[in-house]
Amino acid sequence: MTIPFHCDTNHSLKRTMIISIVNHKGGTGKTTTSINLGSSLAEAGYRVVLVDLDAQGSLTYSLGIDDRSPTIADAFHGDATVHQLIIEREGMAILPAGAGLADVELAIAKADERFNHLSTLLQELPDYDFVLIDCPPSLSLLTLNALAASDYILVPMQMDVLALRGLDSMLETVRKVNAIHPRLTVLGIVPVMVDTRKNMHQEILKYIQSNYTEHVFTQVIHTSVKAAEAPSFGKSVVAYAPQSTTAIDYRALAKEVVRMTKKNQQQRPITIND
Ligand SMILES: Nc1ncnc2c1ncn2[C@@H]1O[C@H](COP(=O)(O)OP(=O)(O)OP(=O)(O)O)[C@@H](O)[C@H]1O
Ligand SMILES: [Mg+2]
Repeated sequence: MTIPFHCDTNHSLKRTMIISIVNHKGGTGKTTTSINLGSSLAEAGYRVVLVDLDAQGSLTYSLGIDDRSPTIADAFHGDATVHQLIIEREGMAILPAGAGLADVELAIAKADERFNHLSTLLQELPDYDFVLIDCPPSLSLLTLNALAASDYILVPMQMDVLALRGLDSMLETVRKVNAIHPRLTVLGIVPVMVDTRKNMHQEILKYIQSNYTEHVFTQVIHTSVKAAEAPSFGKSVVAYAPQSTTAIDYRALAKEVVRMTKKNQQQRPITIND
């Protein structure tokens, strides 16, 4: 059964938007984008959860959470509830990760519902506006779990030729997942670590804007020293250097994300199972 879904203009969203921050290439700004988009949304008054789904635990470390905390791996193994994991940072609820996640892939690989474990865990969360999932740099079973749990994906991408080559294979994987999970939508590609003085960056940006049907965010994230420094202080750039270019860029990106998800909510009928 399908019911029409109308969004009002209230500040908070009608239902939780789950967004995977994904790119199977390493070092493309996934973790930085998860943290700073999340912190910008929280600063604007939205209720935000950040899920660290990478065994490297970079998101967890970058927010100053020590590695003795129970992690999402414990929840996958059934040794902790999602509620027991939540740590609060910068007005957000964080579900931390650690090296234990590497074993989770093996543990869930054979189960019938192997793609739906994360989705089941996230159903334990109370009402939030945004859940942002920081994915590992691979199209692994954990990443497929993230896609299966998500409404949207957001792809941070550096303006270099190798990143461009990787984009096609990633979008192809999303299309395959779409066949079994039609709700999943590419919210957009976020150009990150952009240096507008470099011709190469400008050319690649123009190329993706004119050759991909996927949305390319108008707001790009410029490269900055503050962005690279913030993790060692255990803070987002938004909190560590609130007036920096990167913080300003991420706040503007957050506004664009809100506009797009609200537009989608208004347009999209949802099924009663949503
Ligand atoms: N706007 C920026 N300006 C300068 N440095 C940045 C910026 N964004 C991210 N970085 C730096 O680039 C590196 C990679 O960023 P990040 O860890 O967010 O990428 P990732 O895609 O999560 O990496 P991985 O694939 O290993 O998980 C980090 O050292 C980070 O501090
Ligand atoms: Mg990362």
